[in-house]
Amino acid sequence: MQADDYDPLAAARLREKIGNVEAGIPPQCYARTGAANPCYVCHTTPRGNNRADDAELQERYDFSPLRRRNPWTNAFVDRRAAIAKVSDAEILAWARADNYAPLRASTARLADYRGWKPDIDLQQGFDGQGFARDGSQWRAFRYKPFPSAFWPTNGSTDEVMIRLPAALRTDARGRESREVYRANLAIVEALIATPADIADAAIDRVIESIDERAAGLDLDGDGQLGVATHLRGLPARFAGSASGKPRRGVYPQNTEFLHTVRYLDPAQPDYAAQRLKELRYSIKAIEIDDVSIATHYQDGAREKLTGDRPHYSGNALTGQSNDYGWTLSGYIEDAQGRLRLQTREEQLYCMGCHSNLGITVDQTFSLARKLPGANGWGLQTLAGQRDAPQHGKTRGEYAEYFERAGGGDDYRANGEMLRRLETFTATTSLREMLLPSAQRALALNKAYREVVLEQSYKLGRDAVLVPLDQLVHRQLDKGDPAPKAADKRYDDAQLWLDWPR
Ligand code: HEC
Ligand code: HEC
Repeated sequence: MQADDYDPLAAARLREKIGNVEAGIPPQCYARTGAANPCYVCHTTPRGNNRADDAELQERYDFSPLRRRNPWTNAFVDRRAAIAKVSDAEILAWARADNYAPLRASTARLADYRGWKPDIDLQQGFDGQGFARDGSQWRAFRYKPFPSAFWPTNGSTDEVMIRLPAALRTDARGRESREVYRANLAIVEALIATPADIADAAIDRVIESIDERAAGLDLDGDGQLGVATHLRGLPARFAGSASGKPRRGVYPQNTEFLHTVRYLDPAQPDYAAQRLKELRYSIKAIEIDDVSIATHYQDGAREKLTGDRPHYSGNALTGQSNDYGWTLSGYIEDAQGRLRLQTREEQLYCMGCHSNLGITVDQTFSLARKLPGANGWGLQTLAGQRDAPQHGKTRGEYAEYFERAGGGDDYRANGEMLRRLETFTATTSLREMLLPSAQRALALNKAYREVVLEQSYKLGRDAVLVPLDQLVHRQLDKGDPAPKAADKRYDDAQLWLDWPR
């Protein structure tokens, strides 16, 4: 294949008709439940700025008539024969090839593309504090993975990076300053990762050591400028030259996130393969005020009541934007495994989880779950991680999930996890628990690669080893179901964790 016939925007440029206009409703919502409830981790009661009150969606498959037929039919395709035909060596070679560098090179050449261009040199990697070595100012952080979908045992590994805008990286005289940047990252982390029920004055978060003199800000509230290892109280302003004010549960304008979704490579410590399945990006392009946030949540609730569907501005080439000021976009593999911009419909999939969902903090997931302090800065790893409880609870979050969901994935389809659940305790290493056997990892890669070859992402992009007919609804009747007894609804889920002191 010639490098110059590679156009990463080709698929996104095609003006396809959108088949699934509600692609923001993910496949998980069609899981058969019975006594189990995997729904509560996403659909919950309002907390902080997030006013979405969607816990009751746990109780009923309350879809608009259009959506009673499950559009994610890849869950029902039998890929066992196809999986058996691919050798381990072949899929490992696939997973170990770099498809990111070519994407970066080819998008860099596109003069008139206004969407986000991958601007990090992943090959150069990150320094000991998680900063990208290439000077792009991206910073990788470590987090406890959100239950289920992003556990390696269920198909993919991932990494997340954050970047604050230039104004939050420069000192009062307008010069780039690492110390100012680190101070502002600590502030943003505290704004997002502090549970909403903790008062502003009571904020107390362990942070990496920061020289307050260089940052020009008393972070630990001891009345003097020294070295801070805690952030205490809500700071009145950001460090350096930024004019905006820190707001609880709200990212500053132009905060960016990168999310790599990777194949599994059992030879890597965290199974992070070289090859990307997807590269996902978001930017808080507009910071809206609290009144507007509340109003948009009310509008979202009304849409649900009237059966209207959410609308997003933008298109495949610009990325799509929600009412809360975020623009999202994503790349995914073409049939040859080269990363390409996703189509409008494929990107519509992003918008549900990152817009009106009950569980998020300012429409995001991972920063609220960042490991506190210096240990939380660096490329994602499960090493050393244990099952921290959600805020205000004593029991581990995953232990609770395993019991309520009745398994180790949304569908109770992961047999390896079902067997491991028996021995799971608060001291089990998450690496031991969430990394699949090598055999399972390769099978998951093979199953997913079939979807790549078919380019059938709009029918679902999960790695499915065995058809899920028994575990997932294909079609819901009008009268269908109160699937669960009412006592199986849980209103207590939140993203925030209580870390061991
Ligand atoms: C990974 C997160 C996640 C999980 C787990 C999940 N959902 Fe959802 N659900 C969503 C998102 C995102 C939407 C779309 C929200 C939007 O567009 O505003 C949604 C939408 C829905 C809707 C449609 C609401 C409407 O207004 O049309 C129903 C019904 C629903 N979910 C039920 C369930 C049930 C039942 C379960 C468990 C079997 C479940 N969900 C599990 C994320 C999830
Ligand atoms: C089913 C729900 C769901 C869908 C659909 C989804 N995401 Fe996410 N996203 C998550 C979760 C959960 C995380 C945190 C990952 C973790 O914990 O490992 C995340 C993380 C991210 C992050 C890092 C910042 C953050 O919010 O934590 C970005 C950027 C992102 N997603 C973009 C996208 C894009 C772009 C798409 C579409 C291609 C997409 N997402 C589709 C659930 C979803």
